[in-house]
Amino acid sequence: MTEIFSRILIDWYKLNKRNLPWRHTKDPYRIWISEIILQQTRVVQGYEYFVRFMEHYPNVNLLAAAESDEVMKLWQGLGYYSRARNLHEAAKSIVAAGEFPKTYEGVRALKGVGDYTAAAICSFAYNLPYAVVDGNVYRVLSRWMGIDTPIDSSEGKKLFAALAQELLDKEEPGLYNQAIMDFGALQCTPSSPDCLFCPLAESCVARKNGRVGQLPVKQHKTKITNRYFNYIYVRAGAFTFINRRNDKDIWKNLYELPLVETSRELSEEEFYADVEAKALFAEGEEPLFRCLKKKVKHVLSHRIIYANFYEVTLPEDSRSFNQYIKIPVAKLQQYAVPRLIHQFLEENGIV
Ligand code: ADE
Repeated sequence: MTEIFSRILIDWYKLNKRNLPWRHTKDPYRIWISEIILQQTRVVQGYEYFVRFMEHYPNVNLLAAAESDEVMKLWQGLGYYSRARNLHEAAKSIVAAGEFPKTYEGVRALKGVGDYTAAAICSFAYNLPYAVVDGNVYRVLSRWMGIDTPIDSSEGKKLFAALAQELLDKEEPGLYNQAIMDFGALQCTPSSPDCLFCPLAESCVARKNGRVGQLPVKQHKTKITNRYFNYIYVRAGAFTFINRRNDKDIWKNLYELPLVETSRELSEEEFYADVEAKALFAEGEEPLFRCLKKKVKHVLSHRIIYANFYEVTLPEDSRSFNQYIKIPVAKLQQYAVPRLIHQFLEENGIV
């Protein structure tokens, strides 16, 4: 059965595979970059980033030698920015070691590389027999085998990892891994799988039992928290102010406008009276605000951010906002900012 499963998947893949740039190489560096980009990112979105990354950093030495702000700027808009920070650190460690690691353990030890990514790199670059287990694999296996053990339980993780490893084609692990991922992404999709024209339909347990829509099972729902951001775009002559986020929080190492975060949504009047907002201004300088954009809803994986954007005009030699970085407005576009900020800046003709 194991051989038939992998044969069917590989035959399907040969007819249906997507032509993707990281599939035409055995260079572990390129494959590594592609897999980090594709963690939590769709192929259509990641594609352009991969191409640009390769243009800027065609090899690991160039990536290691880059400025971290430049790497972050190239990552701007992709989200999950810890990936870019880890990528950069790992590049430095690879250069220090003298070569890209050649074993599973060595690859797995790179910063930002987990079980999935290590298996992907080792099977694609070196044809080592490690099965990938990502969302696609959970879906295909849970349906084909009719397994309702929650995929986010420790029991489920162990079970699916063992099954994936058992089903792996040991002769062609790289090809098989690509095949099952594309099969999950294109054929056995989350909400409207193409069961009618599925080459595994006959042997699929979920299909036989009418349970395709119920699988895979997850035990925990992601907890979503709301946050309320009030951003201030300052015009002080040709200058403005920015902040580099460095707390243990979202968007670490990205830049943003001066921010007042509140525990609930504030109306304009409430914001103008807010002590934290007032405290940004030096004595004798008048906080004259204008609201430019209200109630922007920005959805992240675990948070929903509700943002308001204000503008305030001050003299060029203003002493307000002195805990922020003062930069010429014309230089704003050089800084990596979250998409939420970038959209605001673009819409208002600032960058
Ligand atoms: N998602 C993660 N890795 C991938 C790959 N190598 N090809 C297509 N989709 C992917």
